[in-house]
Amino acid sequence: EKAGFDHFMLKEIYEQPKAYRDTMGARLDPSGTKVVLDEVKMSKEQIGAIRNVHIVACGTAYHAGLVGKSVIEKLARIPVEVDVASEYRYRSPIITPNTLVIVVSQSGETADTLAALREAKRNGARVVAITNVVGSSVAREADDVIVTWAGPEIAVASTKAYTSQLIAFYLFGLYLAQALETQDAAAVAEIVAHLKELPEKVERILEQAEAIKEWAEQVSTHDNLFFIGRGLDFAVAQEGSLKLKEISYIHSEAYAAGELKHGTLALIEEGIPVIALAIQDDLFEKTVSNIKEVKARGAHVFGLHTEGETELAKSVDQVFEIPHTLPLLSPALSVVPLQLLSYYASLARGNDVDKPRNLAKSVTVE
Ligand code: M6R
Repeated sequence: EKAGFDHFMLKEIYEQPKAYRDTMGARLDPSGTKVVLDEVKMSKEQIGAIRNVHIVACGTAYHAGLVGKSVIEKLARIPVEVDVASEYRYRSPIITPNTLVIVVSQSGETADTLAALREAKRNGARVVAITNVVGSSVAREADDVIVTWAGPEIAVASTKAYTSQLIAFYLFGLYLAQALETQDAAAVAEIVAHLKELPEKVERILEQAEAIKEWAEQVSTHDNLFFIGRGLDFAVAQEGSLKLKEISYIHSEAYAAGELKHGTLALIEEGIPVIALAIQDDLFEKTVSNIKEVKARGAHVFGLHTEGETELAKSVDQVFEIPHTLPLLSPALSVVPLQLLSYYASLARGNDVDKPRNLAKSVTVE
């Protein structure tokens, strides 16, 4: 059942190109230029009435929501807040009938996420669920359901569910943009064209797994490290850090690169690994200057950059190249090496990769 892989997690990492294709599937118009989301039953008027969006989820699904916020704000120009479900429920969120609440849950059974959904409905909001399980509690209670066709995810550490959630956000962001006409047809077509290229680009990253395995073996001898990045790179850094903690038990922290010097830089000492994401073109120079700050204090920097970019190598100790795509779509690529990093670090430490200590696949208690 592991199809020749040593662990479910590795199998699921390698299933991502298929999960992307299946999740996009029939939702891309045959003309290849727009998105068709028939499962979302909102009229143009209802979409036009949305004043704000709340994205609510836990763990990795929350991290997908961080990317979702950028996607919706950029494509549809609607303000978005993202909350961890266990916080959202108890903070008296301001929900009105013009609020669209998006809950994200692989299992569709997470107790706090389900409670947040109910709170949203009680306040008259429409709820869209992004879930991997057809017929789950979240799917049954939401007004609209966007299923991520990742297939069953067995490993406790979420991989293909996260990336399929990203794809769902891209599709939904485009769907809103089409209805609101916040993007012209050419812009939508360009994004769709790049979306279609993602699976093959993930395959290219997976072909370089051996290089990440070497990084992981170096990292696995440390007890502390940092992930840094800006913008969407920071969102992915947070997911990379969670994954590493969850299965390798190495403590790490994800930091917005520009925020380091407001305290965290004090923790940078000789030899500490820093995984730096410098994928976002428009923020590249800024991130490089933050990389130099940690290098100057002795950090060993592993840098992720876009292929064809030659500057980063001068400022870091090791580099890994991500195929080029639109900046907005880059999380669907840049997270893959981080998934592999945590997998191989866990393996190097002799941990039970698929069943990390203290954790359950589906958290149905508060
Ligand atoms: O099933 P859900 O997406 O609602 O689960 C949410 C989190 O419990 C889950 O993503 C958790 O953070 C993962 N184990 C992370 O890999």
